[in-house]
Amino acid sequence: MTMNQAATLKEWKNYCETEKGVTAEDRTGHLPTPGIPKVLCFSSGKGGVGKTSIVTNLAMAVSKKGKNVLILDADLGLANVDVMLGITPKYSIQHVFSGEKTLSEIIVDGPGGIKLLPASSGIQELCHLDDSEKLFLLNEFDTLTHPIDIMFIDNAAGISDSVMYFNMASEERVVILTPEPTSITDAYALIKVLSQQYRVSEFSIIVNWSNSKKEAQNVFKQLTSVADRFLGFLSFNFLGYIPRDLCIPKSVRQQKAALELFPACRACQEFEKIAETVLSNFEKKNDGNIKFFWQNLLRL
Ligand SMILES: Nc1ncnc2c1ncn2[C@@H]1O[C@H](COP(=O)(O)OP(=O)(O)OP(=O)(O)O)[C@@H](O)[C@H]1O
Ligand SMILES: [Mg+2]
Repeated sequence: MTMNQAATLKEWKNYCETEKGVTAEDRTGHLPTPGIPKVLCFSSGKGGVGKTSIVTNLAMAVSKKGKNVLILDADLGLANVDVMLGITPKYSIQHVFSGEKTLSEIIVDGPGGIKLLPASSGIQELCHLDDSEKLFLLNEFDTLTHPIDIMFIDNAAGISDSVMYFNMASEERVVILTPEPTSITDAYALIKVLSQQYRVSEFSIIVNWSNSKKEAQNVFKQLTSVADRFLGFLSFNFLGYIPRDLCIPKSVRQQKAALELFPACRACQEFEKIAETVLSNFEKKNDGNIKFFWQNLLRL
């Protein structure tokens, strides 16, 4: 049997257990090439700073520009992407692990052409897969029925193991913070752990809930000057800012993206600008030397 012939993870695991001649080396020699070329992981030290709002609206903006976007909802226990977009996924990645569904079957369509991979209830499993499970999942990504150009991860707040895990596996790490001192301190704490314990040296920053671009740039300066002083040489990229704008909570209440309901609002204009920057970085980096998320995440 090959992985492609195994209909579910359970079937593949049973095969691996009974197939004594197949060694881990044999299996790793046949790693498929995952079809996901770019992954941005959105995190924050402090909770409630706007990660899910930003991920859903940016996904919509990027999708409007012709890219196939997948959101991975990785907020363990507090999945919000589906609620914000008004969709009710029946299954999650947990069903892939239990062998009931394939990855293609659990991915749901969201508004504006975006796709959602509901993963929150299976995050613990995703972080603790054995070799045969990792291989199976890699293969599943290779055989997805719809192509994906870019994946956004809506991470949990804080500095838990799963937060680190997704950051490590991603090509670009975006830290979101607000002008509140507590948010700046917590963003610094996240950057400190990622740089000192996990050797991450490049960060993109989005300042949310800002009164002006100037205020956002000051927050960026505050964060980077402390980091420069105490954490050594790190590279920071100001990806943009989102103003405090009532259209965001209004759209959350209606379970729709702000970009759908209020495309002309100030926040949406900034979402569009950030989406353009993300895509132009994407074109620059898309030079064949791509670090694939799933190979990293599921590294054997
Ligand atoms: N720029 C903004 N202007 C006004 N309200 C905002 C803005 N950004 C987010 N909000 C509001 O802040 C609240 C928290 O946002 P959101 O759920 O996106 O944060 P989060 O970082 O994902 O939270 P959690 O850490 O709990 O996952 C929501 O009610 C949202 O409507
Ligand atoms: Mg959230």
